[in-house]
Amino acid sequence: MRRNLGIAIATVLGVACSQISFGQLTLTQRHVSNSGQEMYAAWCTACHGHEGKGDGFAGTGLTKAPPDLTMLAAAAGGKYPATAVGMTIRDGTKLMPGFGVMMERMSAGSPGEAQLRLHNLVDYVRTLQK
Ligand code: HEC
Repeated sequence: MRRNLGIAIATVLGVACSQISFGQLTLTQRHVSNSGQEMYAAWCTACHGHEGKGDGFAGTGLTKAPPDLTMLAAAAGGKYPATAVGMTIRDGTKLMPGFGVMMERMSAGSPGEAQLRLHNLVDYVRTLQK
């Protein structure tokens, strides 16, 4: 019981304190459930847009427009490239922040949670495919 409380407090503090910044944009970690849709809405829409078309407001400030995420399967010959999508989300690229470290921090104390978050995000982006 006490141990669980400790973990809960540590998790809340971790969530409240961490943020990632890149360029002008700062993503403050609010409590975001592990639903792929909610994480996408909180972390990805700023650049990739609500429907993944690459038309988020923050994308206009980047040297290269964020890609259209609805065309990933089409661009890969009809097969959604889940592994590559997962690696991009986890590690980021030159212009996109990686979310792996943040997800691990949010998931401190619950093994498997960071992987579940990544998996759910990859699955949500799959639903955006044309
Ligand atoms: C700061 C703006 C920004 C945010 C926030 C962002 N991205 Fe990106 N994303 C980009 C840019 C720009 C690229 C192109 C990468 C490059 O050329 O370096 C990209 C690339 C990608 C790719 C690779 C697309 C391809 O054509 O292979 C995927 C998948 C992706 N983002 C998914 C996501 C998801 C899911 C999130 C939220 C967890 C997210 N991105 C958050 C800007 C962003």
